[in-house]
Amino acid sequence: MTSKLGERVVVHAPAKVNLELRVGPLQDDGYHPLVSVFQAVSLFEEVVASTTASGTGISVTVRGPGAAQVPTDGSNLAVRAARLLAERAGVEPAAHLSLRKAAPVAGGMAGGSADAAATLLACDLLWDAGLSREELLALAAELGSDVPFALVGGTALGTGRGDRVTPVLARGEFHWVLALAETGLSTPAVYAEHDRLVAAAAAVPDLEPRVSDDLAAALLAGDPVSLGACLSNDLQAAALSLRPELRAVVRLGEEHGALGILLSGSGPTVALLASGSDQALELAVALTASGVAADVRRVTGPVPGARQVESAAVSPLHPSRRGR
Ligand code: C5P
Repeated sequence: MTSKLGERVVVHAPAKVNLELRVGPLQDDGYHPLVSVFQAVSLFEEVVASTTASGTGISVTVRGPGAAQVPTDGSNLAVRAARLLAERAGVEPAAHLSLRKAAPVAGGMAGGSADAAATLLACDLLWDAGLSREELLALAAELGSDVPFALVGGTALGTGRGDRVTPVLARGEFHWVLALAETGLSTPAVYAEHDRLVAAAAAVPDLEPRVSDDLAAALLAGDPVSLGACLSNDLQAAALSLRPELRAVVRLGEEHGALGILLSGSGPTVALLASGSDQALELAVALTASGVAADVRRVTGPVPGARQVESAAVSPLHPSRRGR
């Protein structure tokens, strides 16, 4: 359980979209039981974990879009992940974490959760902690509802708080266009608005929400047209209530024939499903030209969960190992 100065581990973890999100009633623990189908998409967060000269403590630097909004103190989810792993594995918490953001910050795509998942894997490798996949998944669930899925990736069903993840069979590749907003939305604020809307409508949410059978069939068939018809997110009304300007993105997607349009997670990112790469390009161009989105990305899914992409010793103390 040791690591040498100059070692580093690079891990990529994907952001996600929710294909379906069903939210139950607020529980005493402050959470909502939910059921969700997640799809990991080709927007990868990068974490480089390296040993430090001081050999003690966890430090972090963040770069990429929205980096300035990410805390670099102990509240950073990646720092919390590294500390939790060190504590449970019984190793000294000593590493520098260099985060490169790709997913929008507070965008409903679980970018922060992907950072935490990538950090768990990177530090486990850096420190030779040797935790099993099940142990890493348990730590991930402690850190946040979306962290386990970022480890698993692919297409998966999330239950409980969204943290119990079971892979779902999906064929083929789906093409998505993501409409990013200038500023993020707070997840607790969106859930609170959802509770308010549910109470105002005197609706009674299902204590055990279920995903639709049609969605599972569309994924199994790899059919984007049927998938587009069953995309659904119970938090969409709440996010649109807090951010009415998102309606312009939905309208534009409809006008340009997107197969399905839905809010990702608690928003404000809107995901538009395209029939293929040509339509994705057309949608992206239309969104960019209209100015209704602060930024536009084309991605595909599903993609794998957190994985090591490169490991190199960069210290001049070990020149022979450079580029290993
Ligand atoms: O677990 P995570 O940190 O992702 O959750 C952030 C917040 O979102 C929670 O504090 C809670 O307010 C809300 N939430 C919820 N029900 C869930 C997941 C999250 O109310 N199933």
